[in-house]
Order: sequence, then C-alpha cells, then structure tokens
Amino acid sequence: MRVLVTGKEGQVDTSLQRLGDLTPGVEVVRLGLPEFDLSRPETLAAPVREARPDIIISSAAYTAVDKAESERGLAEAINADGPGELARLAGELGIPLLHLSTDYVFPGDKDGAYVETDTPGPVSAYGLTKLSGEMAIEKATDNHVILRTAWVYSPFGTNFVKTMLRLGETRDEINVVADQYGCPTYAPEIARALLAVAGRVVADPDPHLRGIFHLTGQGETTWAGFAEAIFAGAAARGRKAARVNPISTSDYPTPAKRPANSRLDGEKLRRVYSLTLDSWQTSLDACLDVLIGAKETQ
Ligand SMILES: NC(=O)c1ccc[n+]([C@@H]2O[C@H](COP(=O)([O-])OP(=O)(O)OC[C@H]3O[C@@H](n4cnc5c(N)ncnc54)[C@H](OP(=O)(O)O)[C@@H]3O)[C@@H](O)[C@H]2O)c1
Repeated sequence: MRVLVTGKEGQVDTSLQRLGDLTPGVEVVRLGLPEFDLSRPETLAAPVREARPDIIISSAAYTAVDKAESERGLAEAINADGPGELARLAGELGIPLLHLSTDYVFPGDKDGAYVETDTPGPVSAYGLTKLSGEMAIEKATDNHVILRTAWVYSPFGTNFVKTMLRLGETRDEINVVADQYGCPTYAPEIARALLAVAGRVVADPDPHLRGIFHLTGQGETTWAGFAEAIFAGAAARGRKAARVNPISTSDYPTPAKRPANSRLDGEKLRRVYSLTLDSWQTSLDACLDVLIGAKETQ
C-alpha cells in the first residue's frame, strides 16, 4: 500500500513516516512544501498524480491556533481549500482520503464527551477553518474518513509536552490552565490508527467504514493535570520538575478562544474498526522515554 501523506516535518506525518518504515507492505511518501503549497490548491494535482498513491492521508494543516485569528484567510486556504482539492483529486483517482480534523470544531459547552453526531460550533478561527475543511471534503468525495483528534504531542515538532519540559528547566513554578478539559493524544498512536484505518478502507468499499470518527488517547484531563503528569514523569527520570500552579482561562487571555470541554468519545472507532488508542498516561510515559530516557530505578 502506497500512502501519500501531506506534511513533512509535522508531528503526525513524521510519526507516519517512522511507522511506515517499519511496516512491511506499506510505503509512506511524504509531500508538502516545496512540492506543493496547500494554500495554493492548483499546485496539488501534479505531485499527487505523480506519487501514484493507493490512499491519501491529509495531515498537514495551519495549526497555529492563536495566529489563525489574525491570518484567517491563509488558515482557511490551508485547512479548507487545500484539503478540498485533495479530496477532489482522491475522487478523480478513485482512492480514499483520510483527513485529520480537530476537537476545536466543537463549542465546548456539552456536559460529557462529544460524539460524531453532535453539532459543531467552533469558537475560534482555527476551529472554523478546520470545520470548513471537513465540509469541503464531504462535498468533494464520499470515499473519505475524517478523524478528529486533540491535544497532539510527540517527540517531534512543537507541542505542550516539549514546551513544559523546556520551561521546567528554568522555572520553579508554572501557571497552567485548569478549567479546559480534553484528551491528550500521542502522534505515534494516531499514526498506528491511521495505517490500520488505511488498510481497511483501501481493501473494503463498505460505506460504514467511511465518514467522521473521533480518535483520541483514552482518558481525559486538564492542561494543568497534563502538566503535572509531565513533571512527575520528568522527576521520575531524574529531571528537575516545576510546580504547576492551576489557573483559570480568564487568568490567561489568548487571541483565540478555546472550548472549555473538548473531550471526544471514541466509541464509534472502537465499534466500527475495533480500534482504541492507549491511555494518555501510558503514551506520555512512552513519549518521555524517548525525550528524556527511561525512569530511574529506586
Ligand atoms: N497539534 C494538535 O494539537 C492538533 C489537535 C487536533 C487536531 N490536529 C490536526 O492534526 C493534524 C496534524 O497535526 P500536527 O500536530 O502533526 O501538525 P504540525 O506538527 O503543526 O504539522 C503541520 C504540517 O503541515 C505542514 N504545512 C503547513 N502549511 C502548509 C502548506 N501551506 N502546504 C503544505 N504543508 C503545510 C507543515 O509544514 P511546515 O513545517 O513546512 O510548515 C507541517 O509539516 C492537523 O491536521 C491538525 O489540524 C492537531
């Protein structure tokens, strides 16, 4: 199976490349800038056709949530126009498209985890552009799987875990928001699920395998809870740990509004694909093992 992945240095595309290299029968081809620019959809057709993929995984995105508030046009082009054109090309080639979307399509006022049939209502420009991307894909081809994920971290690229470890080097105390709830998700786990889903949809035209699915690490926490677990893991590996000072969203104003609750329910993915991701705590341990090293023995 030849898998075209969009993005070249991102968390999920790098994880897909690494897993693909270890998986017999899978060849991952990563494409992005400078081969094409998602903000200029007309640049996509030639490299995509040339790659002769069996499936496209659309991972690349404009992911700077705060910056998107002032660059909405560019974010819309990258997160909606580009994926829409990718979906059109996938349809033309007769191949499936897997696309990553976000928990930030939801407003955050639900009591409980969001299911796929809940009505979206983004509260940020980023969320709006990602929802617009979902709609562009749905319009362009039925042969798609949209996987909404959340709070992505990994040893690669920029993410919350790496930021906390960096700040922990120099600070004794860090203020972290404690009233936003979500599901931290490990990019190598996303990659594992994506390749499993890809194998199924390439082989099976069943419409039940298509549509929207939620894909997150098991369990839930707040950013402050996540930070505490990161520093506990760092301390267990002999690193200096900062103390987490829980604060409220109103104490930490940002350009973009974020949902207070963006927990995603993964039951549909479990039922249809028999897929569940590891708990976020198990995956955090795996991530810290890579970033810092194994835990010190007592
Ligand atoms: N990160 C999260 O917490 C999170 C949460 C929910 C959903 N998601 C979704 O999950 C997916 C993967 O996220 P990630 O964390 O792996 O993203 P990431 O680390 O920010 O990587 C994004 C990738 O997209 C590429 N890209 C950006 N603009 C592009 C353009 N105009 N043309 C071509 N490529 C472009 C980047 O290339 P350059 O490095 O060259 O710019 C980079 O390789 C995204 O669709 C994102 O929306 C992420």
